[in-house]
Amino acid sequence: EDNVSVGLLGVGVVGSGVISLIEKHQAKLAHQLGCNVHVKSALVRNPNKVREVDAGINGTALTTNREDVLNDPDIDVVVEVMGGIEEARESILKAFEAKKHVVTANKDLVALHGAELHEAAARNKCDFYYEASVAGGIPILRGITDGFASDHIEQVMGIVNGTTNYILTKMNNEGVSYEDALKEAQQLGFAEADPAADVDGLDAARKMAILGRLAFSTYIALDDVEVTGIKDIELTDLQYGDKLGLTMKLIGFAKFDGKEVEVNVQPALISQEHPLADVKNEYNAVYVYGEAVGEAMFYGAGAGSMPTAAAVISDVVTVIKNMHRGVTGSQFVEPRFKKELKSESQ
Ligand code: HSE
Repeated sequence: EDNVSVGLLGVGVVGSGVISLIEKHQAKLAHQLGCNVHVKSALVRNPNKVREVDAGINGTALTTNREDVLNDPDIDVVVEVMGGIEEARESILKAFEAKKHVVTANKDLVALHGAELHEAAARNKCDFYYEASVAGGIPILRGITDGFASDHIEQVMGIVNGTTNYILTKMNNEGVSYEDALKEAQQLGFAEADPAADVDGLDAARKMAILGRLAFSTYIALDDVEVTGIKDIELTDLQYGDKLGLTMKLIGFAKFDGKEVEVNVQPALISQEHPLADVKNEYNAVYVYGEAVGEAMFYGAGAGSMPTAAAVISDVVTVIKNMHRGVTGSQFVEPRFKKELKSESQ
């Protein structure tokens, strides 16, 4: 094929990044894929809004009607970066019905409705990828699925929420109060619109449910993830830990003992010698232990327009390679063992 057309749902922080990175790296992408990639149209709420990238300049048509994207026969790949749950879910299901492959950055949606979406993708022989949903620019889902393809992952530990890591770092290193550190994180732009999702650990729980699913090939319902946030942490807890050579981190933990998968998120005092103790400010890191590989750690930016957009485009590249080979794929391997899902929604 000479040209692959992508349809975008949402031109916010991530969507703008997708448009500008695809444009900027046109030649590199064409070289890798043997075809041109272009964002043909994009769903927006307000076409007159001033955006970081002027989508029109890159030849992307803006529309307020999602059918223009979902029913366009030219479009092979739909990228969902509008966020939210219900409208995004419906749009993705419609895209699959129209036989379009889907890439999303929507961690909330994948954590809540991943099983349903995977099933719809498989039924329609479509690809479904969501690298950007966990730890932004870090290629962790690929790392876990491809890198450990011939290994048995025993445990995954992650600092997967930048806001809480920022707060704990500032409290620990500079004695800043919880409230002030949270305000700074909000000003810097990586806290969720409602930061309760960050500080209560829910954002991390969603990402750990996704990581656990891919690491252990089983569905993990969000209800099965035990969560404790950082709201009750006090400066004295951190100072006390420090004296003992320990650092407080909000750690997501996923473990598989061959029978049971256990996933939880909680503030934990970890040794200052542990590689995760060095992960500071808003940075994310995921530590994986595999029987064959041993220790591996993936570190980087967990949020932000460009890192997240780069992860989205890496999935688009995978989808196009699959298309050219005439195969469909997904990083999720069918469960090795069936597990009752408590519920797909919370
Ligand atoms: N609020 C999230 C964080 C943004 O702080 O990590 C990235 O998912």
